[in-house]
Amino acid sequence: MTALALEVSQLRVVRQHHEILKSLSFDVAPGELVGLLGPSGSGKSTLMRSLLGVQSITSGTALALGEKVGTPALRRRIGYMAQSSAIYLDLTVRENLAYFAGILGADNSQVEHTLDVVKLRAFAGRLVTSLSGGERARVSLAVALLGAPPLLILDEPTVGLDPVLRQDLWRTFAQLVAEGTTVLVSSHVMDEAARCGRLLLLREGHLLFDDAPAQLLTRTRSSGYDDAFVKLIESPS
Ligand SMILES: Nc1ncnc2c1ncn2[C@@H]1O[C@H](COP(=O)(O)OP(=O)(O)O)[C@@H](O)[C@H]1O
Ligand SMILES: [Mg+2]
Repeated sequence: MTALALEVSQLRVVRQHHEILKSLSFDVAPGELVGLLGPSGSGKSTLMRSLLGVQSITSGTALALGEKVGTPALRRRIGYMAQSSAIYLDLTVRENLAYFAGILGADNSQVEHTLDVVKLRAFAGRLVTSLSGGERARVSLAVALLGAPPLLILDEPTVGLDPVLRQDLWRTFAQLVAEGTTVLVSSHVMDEAARCGRLLLLREGHLLFDDAPAQLLTRTRSSGYDDAFVKLIESPS
């Protein structure tokens, strides 16, 4: 039996007397493209950090790829793109990838492979400081892809990008999913919902919705996702 990519049960996170995540339960099957959507402050990054094992969990359980989150063996099996960039501006694209590959124990062929996946081969020798926002986002994504992890956790990877670049990145996610990777991607932009196979909607640490994007429109009788989100808040079922 293949393990679920994620198994989250009654997950609670309390920080400084505030309950940031309020008993979240959901499963993600291998090969799903799941959008974690919700306004700023709803708890998306906290949930992602919990799944990476770097946020202490107050109660409940979370398994990734069949193992308890935070297990050292998971470190190489989960690719993570943090909300703030973790790449070095004064290194070239290839030097950044080689540096992180070294930490992960990934070999040079992985560096070359990820350059192709994110379509940055032509930029490999450029300093990151000379790249546009969209190109930098691709470098961060490439770092998350090193070692071909079966699970990707991407925290607002498209924030601040223009619509064309956002679409490009979503195409890359879809391609990774088509190859069998499980992708959990967060956004506070509701219209990115349509690009996901499944939506988790978070508000104030509560999971408001967990289903296919089209179901959200049907259930709220809405034509757009912004409108649907507002209706869901006004009359949760
Ligand atoms: N270091 C911290 N200590 C206490 N509360 C925090 C800390 N960081 C974030 N929070 C709070 O946790 C909540 C969720 O934040 P976050 O997970 O960053 O949300 P999102 O990623 O959806 O914007 C917010 O109310 C935020 O103020
Ligand atoms: Mg966040």
